[in-house]
Amino acid sequence: MGLEWWQTGVVYQIYPRSFQDTDGDGIGDLAGILERADYLSGTLGVDAVWVSPFYPSPMDDFGYDVTDYCDVDPLFGDLATFDRLLAGLHERGLRVILDLVVNHTSDRHPWFAASRSSPDDPKRDWYIWRDPAPDGGPPNNWLAVFGGPAWEWDEATGQYYLHSFLPSQPDLDWRNPEVEEAMFDVVRFWLDRGVDGFRLDVAEFVMKHPDFPDNPPAARGPSDGGAMGANRDMGAYSSLEHRYDKDHPDVHPLYRRMRRLLDSYEPARIAIGEIHLDLEDWLAYYGEDLDEFHLPFNFRLVYTDPTADAIGSLVDRIEGALPTGAWPNWVLGPHHASTRATRFGPDHLRLAALLLLPLRGTPTLISGDDLGLSEAEIAPEDQVDPWGIRVPGQGRDGCRTPMPWEPGPGGGFTTGKPWLPLGPAADARSVAAQMGDPHSILNLYRALLDLRRREPSLHAGAYRRLEAPDGVLAYRREAPGAAGCTVVLNFGEKPEQVGAAGTIAVSTDRRDEGTVVREAVVAPGQAVVLVDAV
Ligand code: GLC
Repeated sequence: MGLEWWQTGVVYQIYPRSFQDTDGDGIGDLAGILERADYLSGTLGVDAVWVSPFYPSPMDDFGYDVTDYCDVDPLFGDLATFDRLLAGLHERGLRVILDLVVNHTSDRHPWFAASRSSPDDPKRDWYIWRDPAPDGGPPNNWLAVFGGPAWEWDEATGQYYLHSFLPSQPDLDWRNPEVEEAMFDVVRFWLDRGVDGFRLDVAEFVMKHPDFPDNPPAARGPSDGGAMGANRDMGAYSSLEHRYDKDHPDVHPLYRRMRRLLDSYEPARIAIGEIHLDLEDWLAYYGEDLDEFHLPFNFRLVYTDPTADAIGSLVDRIEGALPTGAWPNWVLGPHHASTRATRFGPDHLRLAALLLLPLRGTPTLISGDDLGLSEAEIAPEDQVDPWGIRVPGQGRDGCRTPMPWEPGPGGGFTTGKPWLPLGPAADARSVAAQMGDPHSILNLYRALLDLRRREPSLHAGAYRRLEAPDGVLAYRREAPGAAGCTVVLNFGEKPEQVGAAGTIAVSTDRRDEGTVVREAVVAPGQAVVLVDAV
């Protein structure tokens, strides 16, 4: 069976605020994405863009707090601009994935305004309202990801409502069929306009345990690097095991229904899920009959130590655990921990690129990865991310600095004052500066994306780990009737020789590309992709 575009392609995330501004307000907009469409399809050569939320919002969480799911915030444009953007991206062969914030709305969404207006309002049960505990405190011990208790007291109606994130992001009650119907209407609204799929925000949060038991204290045992709050210190949130406040099994029938809706379109549209769970629970989101998410995001590379052992075991483990027919996917940086903030660190950005793109499965790049942007230091007084403001150390601003397109004050991003400062070395890292340098990280990404597209073994082939010296990860990619590729990554401290032959198609240091070798010698911190002679 032939593979689908979402299997062979590469996804690129755009955080619209930080991509390209066209009206000088210092905030990127939809017209800006269209202006840069040729960069995406031609210069860089990705296949799909996932656009973070641009819906009307008070922007408490920069758009992840929606007041109207079927419109565009004036900051970003309007529906007509969206339609132009969609057509412009489609014309260039790019697919468009929208970010669907399913777990919560803004507290200023008319649904919540109605819900909060009275316990008797027909929309009361669209959200999760509970009486206080006998002592008058919150109904249970659940905590919000963004700090503090997950319950907010509503004086006027004498109940608490649940918010897994900010108090101004009340959780919808997906056990209420009216909520599902309303949200499925939203899905239809965008699918009818022609979008190619959705990335569901915090997809595992939507179903909580129906009895709302207290969460147990966290057993700080080893996590396999999947569960949010288990694999990195998220402050108080990490003190509990999030057993009951998310990932209730009832979530699966819901996503099967969602999938049926997507499949009812011609051609079928796709579902990507933001899911932070340990392996077994995460795998369940593919669906028992592969009838839920096409691509439940796999964030494990972000949290794995950059050693050959750790990464090799991770890849083997995932390859071994995937149900038959399930397609792997790899992310090196969600927009709150882009490659700018992974364990790879600034010295290993090139190695990270060669790790991500030749793996079997769909890679997702975060804008800025392509330029090797590092995480910016944002002074505490300049912080705007509500998470960082509420929970010290969790700020995401440093990973969201605007794309520098050319040297100069606004970096070609804006003629005004950028909403966040441009990151470090923005001039040197700008697209224009890097295009002129054959050894730049941007040109490395371009070469890798091009190779991946050209070589069937890379975008469609099987994966097989090879024996390699300590510190080295080596594997084969092979597809019937096509040249095989060997990928060798040296995470160690000394040069290593690997019994792999072929033409060096792409290498981190670029200088040896085109050379035919019988035994690859890879310097520390370097990597190569070899293509077999045919
Ligand atoms: C996801 C998004 C993040 C957002 C949060 C709440 O983690 O990636 O940006 O703040 O959900 O919607």
